[in-house]
Parts: sequence; C-alpha cells; structure tokens
Amino acid sequence: MQTGLDTHIRFDWITGGMHGSAIEVSCRKLGQLQSLFRDQARVVELSPETLVYRVECWYPVEPGTLGGLFWGVTTIAPGKVGDEYFMTHGHFHEVADRAEFYITVRGRGALLLMDRLGRTRFEPMESGSMHYIPGGVAHRVANTGETPLVFAGCWPSDAGHDYGTILTSAFGARMRDVNGEPVLVPEADYVCPCH
Ligand code: F6R
Ligand code: ZN
Repeated sequence: MQTGLDTHIRFDWITGGMHGSAIEVSCRKLGQLQSLFRDQARVVELSPETLVYRVECWYPVEPGTLGGLFWGVTTIAPGKVGDEYFMTHGHFHEVADRAEFYITVRGRGALLLMDRLGRTRFEPMESGSMHYIPGGVAHRVANTGETPLVFAGCWPSDAGHDYGTILTSAFGARMRDVNGEPVLVPEADYVCPCH
C-alpha cells in the first residue's frame, strides 16, 4: 500500500465522496468473496465480476504508526446471493484492543458485531447512525436496502486487519432476507474460533 501522507482532503457528508490526491481505492468483486456467502450454488449463478463493494481510504500516516488514524469510506452495492445480502468481508483488528467508529452516510444496512466466542449481534445502519466498534470485536456490514449503502470508518493506524479468522470460522449469524425483511439468522453449525 502506498501512502500519500497528505494531512488534508475533502469529505462530502451528503454523498460520502472523498476528494484529494492521497486517496486509495480498492474494489471487492463477488469472485473474491465467494467463499463467504452461505449459498455457494447461488454465487456461481452470478458473475464473479459483480462489484459488491468499493473502499476509498485516506492514510495520512504510514500503516503501523502508533497514535495515528485512518479514514475510509465504503460503498456496498444493493444485492443478494440467494437470501443473503451483499456484505463486506468482515475482520477482527490484528491488534486486538483497537477500536473503530463507523458513521452511516446514506442507505440502509446492518453492522454485524461478533466477539471472540462467536456471539453475534447487529446494529441497524441508516443516514446519521454512528457506531462504536470496541476492540476485540469482528465487524461486517450488510446492505439491507435497495440503494448503495455508504458509510465512513475511522480506525487506529496500527490496528491491522485479521481476515483469516473470518475465512476459517465465519460469523455466528448471517443477515438474510426472511419474507422481505432483514433478519439476523444464527448459523446452525457454527464452530467458535476459540475451539
Ligand atoms: C477498517 C474497516 C473498514 C473496512 C471496509 C471494508 O478497519 O473496518 O474500512 O475495511 O468497510 O471491509 P473489509 O475490510 O472487511 O473488507
Ligand atoms: Zn475495521
């Protein structure tokens, strides 16, 4: 990852747009997230090129810097794989006690929060909702609406990301469409990462 090390950008609170030379953009397509969804058969019916989400990040300090902060804006497309809403990969922070703020700019969604025992809950996301994600809590966002879900995050520059635990153990519950309503459905065969 390159860092622009700019200490000044512009952020649009209405659209979530970020403007400045130091912004890095990354995209996650369905093909890269395939194994995370419950209904693998439905994943292959959709194109692996389908854009699920896009992240724009501002890294004003080098990654790993103690005491610095990063800022990122994520846009999740509306959509589902079977009955499961499009969602981010989800992660724990590598440095276990590092917390994070999420702030919803527009759209509707659900912030899934899971502790180390796999206990999973969610907070509804809508324009203006702010969420404090404590250290040691895995976080994932699902877009439960019909428009793009845009949210900003602010996290410590030495937090790092542990994606591996989610790949091997998943979340203890999934955000699924049940009769047209988003419902957090526990995973029947969930195995806690602590085992
Ligand atoms: C940073 C953070 C967000 C996510 C982004 C994409 O700590 O939580 O900026 O990185 O929403 O989600 P992941 O990283 O799970 O692919
Ligand atoms: Zn995070």
